Amino acid sequence: MVFGQAPATLAAVNLGELLGDKQVCICGGSGGVGKTTISAAIALEMAARGRRVAVVTIDPARRLANSLGLKELGNEPTRIAPARFARAGIAVEGELWAMMLDAKRTFDEVIERLAPDASTRDEILANRIYRELSSAVSGSQEYTAMSKLYDLHREGGFDLLVLDTPPSRNAMDFLDAPDRLTRFFEGRALQVFLRPSGLATRFVGRGTGLMFSVLKRATGVDLLDDLSVFFRSLGGLIGGFRERARAVNALLGDRGTVFLLVSSPEREPIDETLFFWRKLKAARIPFGGVVVNRVRRLQAEGDPAEVASALTDQLGEALAGKVADNFGDLQVLARRDARNIERLAGKVGDGCILEVPYLDEDVHDLAGLAQIGGFLFASPAQRAELTAETAA
Ligand SMILES: Nc1ncnc2c1ncn2[C@@H]1O[C@H](COP(=O)(O)OP(=O)(O)O)[C@@H](O)[C@H]1O
Ligand SMILES: [Mg+2]
Repeated sequence: MVFGQAPATLAAVNLGELLGDKQVCICGGSGGVGKTTISAAIALEMAARGRRVAVVTIDPARRLANSLGLKELGNEPTRIAPARFARAGIAVEGELWAMMLDAKRTFDEVIERLAPDASTRDEILANRIYRELSSAVSGSQEYTAMSKLYDLHREGGFDLLVLDTPPSRNAMDFLDAPDRLTRFFEGRALQVFLRPSGLATRFVGRGTGLMFSVLKRATGVDLLDDLSVFFRSLGGLIGGFRERARAVNALLGDRGTVFLLVSSPEREPIDETLFFWRKLKAARIPFGGVVVNRVRRLQAEGDPAEVASALTDQLGEALAGKVADNFGDLQVLARRDARNIERLAGKVGDGCILEVPYLDEDVHDLAGLAQIGGFLFASPAQRAELTAETAA
């Protein structure tokens, strides 16, 4: 035929080996590249291999959430019923548990754990200032994701935890989320308030005191009371927050933890991935590799005009022309993807890259996840075969 050679496959990460002795796998990367899909696929495959695995997802697409049986409430992993695997024709020797992170609930749980007694706990949880603050803090999701991971790691009894990271603007934000929160609690503003004879009394002196009392009369809301209760009761928890931040950081750098970056093959996400990769290295966080997801591949190269003429007899001129155009477009995209991946490999090393092809359909059920898992965990020989099969 007119076609040339299929592109060579890069040496890939052996994910089965990499995860063999790990307890935590964190999937990071920019939004929309397939983090949730890849996390769930990794968890499913490791469960299939006999592990007790929990995947903590942040924002699963609704259809995927449904097919995993995920419920929004609860904030605890639930086990996916073996019958679901049987229906999807997947053999799973271990257990797959999944949960959708409820950031607000997680933050409350941290307070529950750190509060010295039940009345302090209730006081904080019921406090208006806390409720506002916790929605703001948990809204960023980074702290809560790490925090949940830490608790599950300590108490969940799982062989492996797979964390899908929040779709934040800066995908590395959560790396220093625990520290940022501690800094807030240790910060000057709060310290000033907490000091018994500190500014709080002076500050709430005349003008402010008057304002608060007017507010109270007008609204029935005693904000000053809320404020002082908040600072008094939270003050006792600062040490706990600091301790926790330290422990979460230790978990991030642990030998049992591995970090995978998920990327798509376009120029911009690849640039961001390189940026994250440098940050991981600087923070000494164990880096496992880059999953390049939704890679477009051609089984062969060729001249679209030749393709058109070769197909005209069978398809007619119009249809053959369309097929040839498509072929040409895909060829351009596939070449572009390959170039971007090469550039990435040149920096992170080609033994650190795992390509997953662009599938024809969205991945929204267990069968789809298993298919993705097939690519992620393939041996080099299987990989070449699979790539040839899915190439357009
Ligand atoms: N390899 C793939 N081929 C085709 N569709 C994919 C692939 N990976 C992910 N998708 C789809 O892309 C969309 C975004 O994926 P998702 O995992 O939710 O991304 P993220 O969590 O990074 O925002 C989903 O609809 C998902 O089904
Ligand atoms: Mg996601």
